[in-house]
Amino acid sequence: MPSFFKAPISKQFSSHFGPKVSLRLAYLPDKPAITVLDAYHGPGEIWDEIKKRRPDLDIAVVGIDAKPLRQPCLKGNNIKYLRTLDLAAFDVIDLDAYGCPFAQMQILFERGFPGRVFATYIKLEAGALSHGLLIANGYSHAMIKTCPTLVMQNPLGLLKNYLALNGVARIAYFSFDGARKTYLTYQKGTTQKPTGPQPPQTVFCPKTAPKRKSQQ
Ligand SMILES: C[S@@+](CC[C@H](N)C(=O)[O-])C[C@H]1O[C@@H](n2cnc3c(N)ncnc32)[C@H](O)[C@@H]1O
Repeated sequence: MPSFFKAPISKQFSSHFGPKVSLRLAYLPDKPAITVLDAYHGPGEIWDEIKKRRPDLDIAVVGIDAKPLRQPCLKGNNIKYLRTLDLAAFDVIDLDAYGCPFAQMQILFERGFPGRVFATYIKLEAGALSHGLLIANGYSHAMIKTCPTLVMQNPLGLLKNYLALNGVARIAYFSFDGARKTYLTYQKGTTQKPTGPQPPQTVFCPKTAPKRKSQQ
């Protein structure tokens, strides 16, 4: 097993802690001081670990969490903060979700966030993917209702198409469980090379929008 898959410390509130940390280390913005909006903060283990690994950097983290936490955090649904905070103040937005943070990604595109995004994208056992993601991929409400398993069978492909439609040329990611769980990073309008030691799998997003499937 490559060393970057091993969780570096024993705490593991997050699943796949090692790959999540490695992805972020590899794609940190190339500057000495970084401000992070950690929109699914939880106990904050990931960015605590990154601070330990990169003591040379000045990393400031602003956390948001829906649940009350011991750590100082903005409390509540991250949607309302992503809609209203001055996103230009952040170099990185972290969407370490339990499922599919489509609504959050959509807000970042709508508000023109130019920085780096790290995200966790999971197709839950119940088969749930955001309908917004499926609609963006050209599926009609009728198709989603009639054959949900079919339209959701390629979760990573759906995400890549959606990101490409929004101007993302390249993502880097780790995928597990037949692409049911993907940990990815992207930054609109840049082809930044990894700065960390272990570049993860990367892929260029398709350049053309998918055709509206109901018309095919
Ligand atoms: C996977 S954990 C995050 C772990 C964290 N990244 C870390 O490094 O320790 C997800 C967290 O997101 C919070 N959460 C889930 N949905 C949210 C939402 N819509 N807005 C804010 N927080 C949310 C949960 O309460 C949970 O603490």
